[in-house]
Amino acid sequence: MATSNVQLVIFGGTGDLTTRMLMPSLLGLFDTGKLANFAVLILSNRNFTDDDYREFIRPFLRRSTKPDIPGFLQHIFYQTMDVTKATDYTAAATKSHEIDKKFDLGGNRIFYFAVAPRLFSPIIASLPDSGFLARPGYKRVVIEKPFGQDYPSAKALNEQLNHLFHEDQIFRIDHYLEKRMVQNIMLTRFGNGLTEGIWNSHFIDNVQVTLSETVGLENRAGYYDQMGATRDMVQNHIFQLISLLAMDQPISLRQGDVTEAKVAALRMLKTPDLQLINQQFVLGQYLGNQQEPAYLDEERIPKTSRTETFVAGELNFNSYRWDGVPFYFRTGKRLATKTTRIDVVFKAPQLKLFEEHHQVIDHLAPNILTILIDPDEGLSMQLNTRDSDEETFGSTNAILANTQPATGFETPEAYESLLSDIIDGNTENFPQWREIAVAWQFIDALRAGWQKTSPIIHQYLLGSMGPEQADKLLTRTGRYWAFDP
Ligand code: BG6
Repeated sequence: MATSNVQLVIFGGTGDLTTRMLMPSLLGLFDTGKLANFAVLILSNRNFTDDDYREFIRPFLRRSTKPDIPGFLQHIFYQTMDVTKATDYTAAATKSHEIDKKFDLGGNRIFYFAVAPRLFSPIIASLPDSGFLARPGYKRVVIEKPFGQDYPSAKALNEQLNHLFHEDQIFRIDHYLEKRMVQNIMLTRFGNGLTEGIWNSHFIDNVQVTLSETVGLENRAGYYDQMGATRDMVQNHIFQLISLLAMDQPISLRQGDVTEAKVAALRMLKTPDLQLINQQFVLGQYLGNQQEPAYLDEERIPKTSRTETFVAGELNFNSYRWDGVPFYFRTGKRLATKTTRIDVVFKAPQLKLFEEHHQVIDHLAPNILTILIDPDEGLSMQLNTRDSDEETFGSTNAILANTQPATGFETPEAYESLLSDIIDGNTENFPQWREIAVAWQFIDALRAGWQKTSPIIHQYLLGSMGPEQADKLLTRTGRYWAFDP
């Protein structure tokens, strides 16, 4: 289905995000006919004409198909601008109106902030007087992460946006919500009597969320050293997963109802207790090897940095459903393997019946429901079965849903689906402010606890699964990480 009549106004059109993700994915949408009557206005500080920019962007426009690149480029325009200079906005808005007229776009505009987060606020502040928001036509705004650095800064950014846009016009990006198996969590839980019936503390022993990465800083030292793993991955992606796993059934699948259920779950999280904080959370920094530098030896990282490149933690809920059920999470850079997965560990059977069998170890393994998100997608359940020699019992992994490679995220294809949602005005896969707010409040409390207790930053070996203290987090209560590559 062709979607027409929209102008994308991209602030920051010569940076990595626009060149590597946005433009190739817009070309993809053009190629499939999703974008027909449209225009893109790039605003950036380099001194380009429309044609210069078209030449500049051409090498980035690679697709597996053979798209009509000259046809696509006719929809691309460029305006030089310094986003901190108010007068530049008027010229940019004038150009935007001219393009709008030329293509008869009805004033529909999507503002995409592909710039450093410190520029979000000055751009929003300049929009009202620029003429960019003139009616008619819809106006939408897209904000890349991070949405603030803590609750106060996120709240200030949100208030600034709310002066100009309604919640359904604001698209805050969390690319995890576009992952197919993340979108599947609700259906896995609420669409199956088998799962939701036992999704509580009577049957579940603990829940484990692992987001491990093999990559390091990827040229983002400045950003990363300021944020650390907790704010880079936990506040957004991990809290999104945990809210979907922990929430009660929403009243309906409408976004407002789902958000309400997610927020209610997160609000039931117990605030970290200062006495327990250093037992329940583990911070780490990676060491180097002969080829790769340690975190503290990376370029532009201060030798004294205490920024965590790994964090693991235990979250507990104040609720009957999750009474006594810890939710563990871990994420880090330079770990053994790239994987995003959830392991729901069920209580092991208490029955002694099988102990009498001479070959059986003294207890049966727990059932584990695994949701594989990335790089493989699938659902599996660890079950106890008799081995083929019929003498011993073992555990086997029953595949419940096909395992297949994920599309790959932070790819042009993933951005295609994000952009396609934005063009359709579908905010379903974008976090709402209330979810972001409650997650920040928890993270701020956690970080305030760390400020007071000054936790050890444990060093860990590159290629490991983090410091051994992250294992102790579970072993001290007789548990263990289900995923141990
Ligand atoms: C981003 C983080 O949000 O997610 C990056 O800023 C991280 O540091 C990335 O590498 C991981 O995404 P994915 O989809 O590869 O798990």
